[in-house]
Amino acid sequence: MIEKVKSLKEEIKTKIENASNLKEINEIKVIYLGKKGAMNELTEHLKTLNNEEKKEFGKILNELKNEINQLFEEKINFYEEQELNEKLEQEQIDITLPATKIPFGSPSIIEKIVEEVEDLLMTMGYDVVDGPEVEKDKYNFEMLNLPKGHPARDAQDTFYLEGEELLLRSQTSPVQIRTMLEGKGQQPIRMICPGKTYRRDDDDATHSHQFTQIEGLLVDRNVSLSDLKGTFDCIAKHLFGNDCETRFRPSYYPFTEPSVETDISCHLCHGKGCNICKNTGWITVSGAGMVHPNVLKNCGYDPKEWQGFAFGFGAERLAMIKYGIDDVRTFYMTDLRELQNFDRKEIKHD
Ligand code: DAH
Repeated sequence: MIEKVKSLKEEIKTKIENASNLKEINEIKVIYLGKKGAMNELTEHLKTLNNEEKKEFGKILNELKNEINQLFEEKINFYEEQELNEKLEQEQIDITLPATKIPFGSPSIIEKIVEEVEDLLMTMGYDVVDGPEVEKDKYNFEMLNLPKGHPARDAQDTFYLEGEELLLRSQTSPVQIRTMLEGKGQQPIRMICPGKTYRRDDDDATHSHQFTQIEGLLVDRNVSLSDLKGTFDCIAKHLFGNDCETRFRPSYYPFTEPSVETDISCHLCHGKGCNICKNTGWITVSGAGMVHPNVLKNCGYDPKEWQGFAFGFGAERLAMIKYGIDDVRTFYMTDLRELQNFDRKEIKHD
């Protein structure tokens, strides 16, 4: 039996030495040390011996087991390390390779215009406020001096929810009402409110059922139309350059008296006349006026003490003028080629 142990030991040693990879060595381990392996046979044999023999053979068997286990362990460690090194070698990162470019989006052009106006007006003490897109008829129309049945409502037909009293706001002007109600007829107000607005218009090159307005409101004592003119002039020059000239034309809005349309000089033809300005030399950019006394009263401000001016820009319109875009649908069609072009297209006065 001792001879058998010796030859088994030599046999296993040679097999371990000749094993050429981790898989092979593990297979050999199963063959010799597994349940049905030769080592187990020897252990089974041990059980058949008497006590004296058991002592002697048990010792030999233990030594064999220890030695063989150690040999297996060394070889397995060796190959495991080798495999790991090979893997690391393969996975090496070549930092000299050119990086994969991550495509960046470009800022929304409407958002850019809104931020430009916000940046300017905040330096003039205006707060940027928000209002709900689902609005009460009362705020969108009634308190703005547009009672039910008023003909001026026709131009602002919108989408109604839950009957007649809730609607998608057709203008950002209801935020004037909300802000004045918060002021409780006591506090001066300077606010702008950019936001989405909705109308039941058929979409075409100049109309969209959803668009963006930038509302502005100032309420204080001793406010006059010339304050509005100065403010508007400042905004126009900020957006379109110092050469930009401005003018007011009389107009009508139920919530302002007097009401005006505000024009900027055409930045393409410098007033000479072109197809953008329809040969007038001027482009209309907003509606504005002095807050109507009824509106002030509706919100608790005494018109004998308080006056105010308000304006409402169409953000898409500003963007179309500034970037030479001739179709409002461009903003909503998510054509990347168009959208990425905006950065390059800016047209400004000198
Ligand atoms: N809300 C008006 C519209 O959508 C625009 C407007 C006109 C806003 C005059 C104003 C204003 O604040 O004073 O047509």
